Amino acid sequence: MPSSAAAPQRVRDRFRAKAQQFDDLYEDQRLLVRLLRPGLLRRRQLAVDTARAYSAPGVLDVGCGSGRIGEFVLEAGASRYLGVDFSEPMIELAEMRLGRFGERVELITDDFLVTPIEGAFDIVLALGLFDYLPDAGRFVARMFELCAPGGSLVGSFPAWSLLKGPVRKVRYEWIGDCSIFNYTGEQLESMLRGAGFDSVEVLAPGRSGYLARARRG
Ligand SMILES: C[S@@+](CC[C@H](N)C(=O)[O-])C[C@H]1O[C@@H](n2cnc3c(N)ncnc32)[C@H](O)[C@@H]1O
Repeated sequence: MPSSAAAPQRVRDRFRAKAQQFDDLYEDQRLLVRLLRPGLLRRRQLAVDTARAYSAPGVLDVGCGSGRIGEFVLEAGASRYLGVDFSEPMIELAEMRLGRFGERVELITDDFLVTPIEGAFDIVLALGLFDYLPDAGRFVARMFELCAPGGSLVGSFPAWSLLKGPVRKVRYEWIGDCSIFNYTGEQLESMLRGAGFDSVEVLAPGRSGYLARARRG
């Protein structure tokens, strides 16, 4: 397993190499892909539902990828969308997808933990991100700082499952040389509350893990 110091570089390399392949998953209608990836559309729906619960929210999308979720939250009324991702090809895809929203969109190519970010956001999205983070607590702490009072963090978190766990381990760690991390409901609750969020909804896991929404009071 790679060391945690090497992990961010390996994750970055992975999403540099596989940006288009990841983006294509959203269009893939094959039954097997749909069965293996039910979480992709569910997490996007939670982001949209949360955006609709605010009036013209400002949204920070950490690990925004190719802008597939950004597109939907902008259509749901976000007044400002800042996407951060350290994979250049992902940001290029996001630029193409989100160009039509004009000045409401800003994209930063950098590591979320080090890049300067101005402002406080009504919604912080972290979808498909925590799978790859050896230091999830540091990310959650920064997300809390950037979340406005009354704002929400929406995150997805993989859980170990007998069905998908071993397959993911072989695909990512043995073949892909990229560590992945799993969470329990208790861990999530304690990590999110520990960062300062005061109401935490951990939604029941499907095969692909948890969706959580935490609110800053
Ligand atoms: C599985 S993709 C999810 C993309 C998007 N959120 C979605 O759900 O469609 C995870 C993304 O997180 C990005 N990422 C991982 N660690 C990051 C970090 N420390 N800073 C910025 N981006 C990061 C990767 O480059 C990748 O594009």
